[in-house]
Amino acid sequence: MASSKGTKSKSKSGFSVTTLVTAGLVALAAAYFAYRGRQHFRPPVLSPLKAPKLTDLAEFDAAYKDQMLWGSYRSGLYFGMRTRTPKALLSGLLWFDPDDPNTLNEMRARHEAKQGDGLTTYGWKRHDGRTYGTQELVDGEYNITLSMLKSFGPESGPGGDWSVRLQLARVPGIPSRRRRISVVMYLGDEDAPRQPWQVLPDGEVADLRSGPATLVSGASSALAGRGGGRWALHALETTSASVSSSRSRGCRVDYLGMGMEDKGYLLKVKELMLSTMWERLERQPSSNRFRLYLPNGATTSADLALFQVTCVLPSAVDFAFTSSGAVESGGWGERLGSLLGPGLDEALAAKQADFDERFERIFGAGMRRQRQPGASDAGASSSSSSSLPEGTLEVSRAALSNLLGSVGYFYGSSLVRTGGPDSEPQPYWPAPLFTAVPSRSFFPRGFLWDEGFHQLLVQKWDPQLSRDVIAHWLDLMNAQGWIPREQILGEEARTRVPAEFVVQNPSHANPPSLFLPIAKMASQLVAAAAATADTRGADGEELARVSAFLRRAWPRLEAWYSWFNVTQAGPAASSFRWHGRDPSAVGELNPKTLTSGLDDYPRSSHPDDSERHLDLRCWMALASQAMYDIGSSLGLSPPVVERYRAAASLLSDLGALRRLHLDEAAGRFADWGTHTEDVQLATRVITVPGPDGQLQPQSVTQRVVTGSPPRPQFVPQYGYVSLFPLIMKLLPAGGDGGDAGSGSGGADLTLQQLALLQDPSLLWSPYGLRSLATSASLYKKRNTADDPPYWRGQIWINMNYLVLRALSYYAAAGGSGGDGEVARVAAAAHDELRLRLLKTLVGNYRRNGYLYEQYDDESGRGISSHPFTGWTALVTLIAAQEY
Ligand SMILES: *[C@@H]1O[C@H](CO)[C@@H](O)[C@H](O)[C@H]1NC(C)=O
Ligand SMILES: *[C@@H]1O[C@H](CO)[C@@H](O)[C@H](O)[C@H]1NC(C)=O
Repeated sequence: MASSKGTKSKSKSGFSVTTLVTAGLVALAAAYFAYRGRQHFRPPVLSPLKAPKLTDLAEFDAAYKDQMLWGSYRSGLYFGMRTRTPKALLSGLLWFDPDDPNTLNEMRARHEAKQGDGLTTYGWKRHDGRTYGTQELVDGEYNITLSMLKSFGPESGPGGDWSVRLQLARVPGIPSRRRRISVVMYLGDEDAPRQPWQVLPDGEVADLRSGPATLVSGASSALAGRGGGRWALHALETTSASVSSSRSRGCRVDYLGMGMEDKGYLLKVKELMLSTMWERLERQPSSNRFRLYLPNGATTSADLALFQVTCVLPSAVDFAFTSSGAVESGGWGERLGSLLGPGLDEALAAKQADFDERFERIFGAGMRRQRQPGASDAGASSSSSSSLPEGTLEVSRAALSNLLGSVGYFYGSSLVRTGGPDSEPQPYWPAPLFTAVPSRSFFPRGFLWDEGFHQLLVQKWDPQLSRDVIAHWLDLMNAQGWIPREQILGEEARTRVPAEFVVQNPSHANPPSLFLPIAKMASQLVAAAAATADTRGADGEELARVSAFLRRAWPRLEAWYSWFNVTQAGPAASSFRWHGRDPSAVGELNPKTLTSGLDDYPRSSHPDDSERHLDLRCWMALASQAMYDIGSSLGLSPPVVERYRAAASLLSDLGALRRLHLDEAAGRFADWGTHTEDVQLATRVITVPGPDGQLQPQSVTQRVVTGSPPRPQFVPQYGYVSLFPLIMKLLPAGGDGGDAGSGSGGADLTLQQLALLQDPSLLWSPYGLRSLATSASLYKKRNTADDPPYWRGQIWINMNYLVLRALSYYAAAGGSGGDGEVARVAAAAHDELRLRLLKTLVGNYRRNGYLYEQYDDESGRGISSHPFTGWTALVTLIAAQEY
């Protein structure tokens, strides 16, 4: 394009205006067609499904979005607030010892939640998912109690105001070297600020004790709307009067305000902070004491500001973020009175009481409920004492709170492999994801199949919040009906994922576990339709929202269902197969099935197209029934609904299930495939060209067949997969009304499966159900030298929960009123398994301060990543017997 200057002179020298206009139009048209072309040629795999978005539903209106704008949505940090906007205004917390050279030498400042930091414990004790949370962080000698509260006063602008209280103390009983602590609260804007930031607008702060001090103010696009996006951050020291009066000085404040040349700085706040403190130290070589302070300076173009508050222990500091409202100095008056100091005490106490009352209302009765004598007495293995382990209430609250408190907001594009294995990954469309995460330290991002379990708990607590999360997930569906299984959106998420896991494969599935909470919603509608109850009032409104949600979800669920039905179909009629196992993965003892969610759980030893995967078939049975329930309760036309009824009855037909998956000789359900038990990893030495071109010996470990060659057969590895017919309630409940399919009403088969379930030599351990039988040939076997066992014996809570859910169903469903043999056995097994799990989970939490990813089946110890408060948080539903 010519510059305007050039245009003018050419115009004078005879260039007509028409020529210019025409040239402009041509350029415009070219740009338009290029744009159209891009739209047109964007392959379906990278295009969103053409259907109205769930996140646009009326219930997620402006008022809802305003209430949810701010939250502790930076899942991967010990603490951070951000806005639910593509470009966030965000805050974060760091802490360190300002007097310890190791803070610099070992970069010992806490920011990102990391297992390697070795905190004694940390996590939310209470968090309501919307407005309030309180977290305890115990870091060696430091004990930090952090409370967060959002409030919406008459003067608040968009997103409301929020407060953070930090109570800084020593852990009693530990001889302490540390006298002081520095906490750093920072704010950063991912977008260009709307107005220049003013760092310390009222001048430097000598003392935080005399009254609230305004640390920084600015304006942000994230808060645009009323008040022009203006905001400010304030602080007040609230150390108790008795402690405070004995000291000459209060907490000191140091600061840094800087302009980010690159928004990537936000990912390096810790490094940035330490390096500026080091520079300040270097400038004062005369000082003989080691002290780390920010340099106290700010540029006029700041969009990142750090405030270091250094206190002698014990102390307390409150921060308040205000949106809009008074900007002039001293104009905050009463508003800050309720956000900081004594005003905040009351609000926090009220919120804590609300939380406890609501928790009791939702989960209390279920936690105390005991089976009627008679039903549980009948079980041979029933425990003598069925009272809950001490601390169950505390752990259940913490589990729920951590699941809610680690819900995050992410924005960005997944990388997707659309061509062959060597093709360049392509970006998915940029989109938001609002989701819970499995683990703040290890997996601070969204995982498709984990989310189905997370939402079972969230929907009991806050059904609308849960629908919001599910809406975000379903809106990520592409035009083919696929949803990427691991969501690594935005730089903050991407920096924490090894490169090989970043790229998603659009032909790979993941269990459609979102159908678990979705089926729950459908059953609400079915129950409401069956009851003649009055559907006006609050319940009626909630049902209307569920109904609107499912109606909007329907085209997406159809596309998702159909994607599975078509792309994951198995070789035999009504069989299914997890596609994507790699037959050439000869370095693995048993080629992994990452798609199934069960990673290294043993499948057939030689992957090929003949495989039939039992778990996937049972997931499809669940999905079919849910689709039928949704379709019929929404009153969709019979031909539409009929397909799912037919699918549900085909997949729950006992005859077909037995033919495809029951190893009659062993009496166990299993996968089918090309398999031999006689495999092992063997190390051989081969020669390969070295860097200098010379051939060199190198040892490689490969799977070798040591005995009978692979042949088509049932895969004789009894474990979680074998339980799926029970888990998905596909076995007859017995009693007089039991489904036929085998001679005796089918109850014998169910009883036989329940007996296997409780066999201690198989899965039934003192601590919960292990993933693979001790008698299985791959029990606790490594898959490669670097791959320790993962789903080969360890106890996982999501699967244990599903088994409890099924047992509870059989306990109630067998015969009339649950008094048949199946019901009695199932009830006893349920009660015993529940108690064992609670003892394991509660005991570990109380001893070690965490919930874990897995539990060891021999010692009951928590193992692998922690805190793992994704599906392990189902402990709350287990305690409350909510299935
Ligand atoms: C940490 O402090 C809180 C109160 O602020 C207290 O309830 C808790 O017991 C303390 N924890 C430890 C390990 O000192
Ligand atoms: C699933 O696929 C099978 C086989 O192609 C087809 O017969 C059936 O109608 C499909 N089910 C649904 C509900 O679309």
